[in-house]
Amino acid sequence: MERGTHMERGTRMQGKITLVTGGGGGIGAATAELFCAQQAKVLLVDCDAAALAKQAEAIAARIPGAVISICVADVTSAHDTAAAVAKAVELFGGLTTLVNNAAVRYLSSVLDADLAQWEKVLSVNLLGAVTMSKAAIPELRRSGNAGIVNLSSTYAEVGRRDFGAYDASKAALLSLTRTMAFEEAAHGIRVNAVCPGGTLTPFTVGRAKDRGLNESDLRGQAKGDTLQKRWGEAIEIAYPVLWFASNEASFITGASLMVDGGTSIM
Ligand SMILES: NC(=O)c1ccc[n+]([C@@H]2O[C@H](COP(=O)([O-])OP(=O)(O)OC[C@H]3O[C@@H](n4cnc5c(N)ncnc54)[C@H](O)[C@@H]3O)[C@@H](O)[C@H]2O)c1
Repeated sequence: MERGTHMERGTRMQGKITLVTGGGGGIGAATAELFCAQQAKVLLVDCDAAALAKQAEAIAARIPGAVISICVADVTSAHDTAAAVAKAVELFGGLTTLVNNAAVRYLSSVLDADLAQWEKVLSVNLLGAVTMSKAAIPELRRSGNAGIVNLSSTYAEVGRRDFGAYDASKAALLSLTRTMAFEEAAHGIRVNAVCPGGTLTPFTVGRAKDRGLNESDLRGQAKGDTLQKRWGEAIEIAYPVLWFASNEASFITGASLMVDGGTSIM
């Protein structure tokens, strides 16, 4: 197997105490698993209790010795996010890394959009990252060597139809990344963004089901909007997240990295 396509064991996250939101599946779960495989302590957070428990159990089974715990929390709630940070501190003694990954999408043209859907998308994808960061920053500052990684999207910069609220939320997240990089540099917190392209996760697989396609159909597709002619795998997004979060990226802050098989330059 090529490096980057499986969970490689190592020590790249040794000493890191991490909180990953939206860990109930997809990129969040893959990131948590890779962090565990690289010796981070992980608090996995999601508002879907059943999905969260299932992912944590699966990770613990696949990564012997994994240090992982779960916290059911809504990232839009100041109460829940504070409780999640408190749990990480209680269990693991602090917090060094926050991955803002939780997100929702609604598809609609701007003309037909229901404003309540816009409010929901902005409230989870943008204000959720703000709320979670506000709760985490005091503890991240205390660690003296911390990182925040925000999951944006290649479509923060590439245009398309029908994802107006989602793509606007992801563009705003890039702006937020730069603002927090400015504000937190003096406090030892680096803030960066990973911008995935089309990646196989419960969301994209669920969407394909509506078109009569399953996951292996998607894997077999020559995806025309990437140079690599295929979908990304969640693990291929998790590695760049790991890199930004690790000490290997110690001189990088305020950056955004396209991880999209080339979509953004086509
Ligand atoms: N999959 C892709 O093709 C793709 C492409 C570009 C960007 N991204 C971004 O990567 C991230 C992960 O994507 P994914 O496809 O794995 O997502 P997903 O939809 O499969 O999972 C998102 C998780 O977030 C959780 N969540 C939603 N609202 C929440 C809330 N208020 N509080 C706590 N948890 C909440 C959900 O329960 C779910 O488990 C997202 O930020 C997404 O926007 C994904």
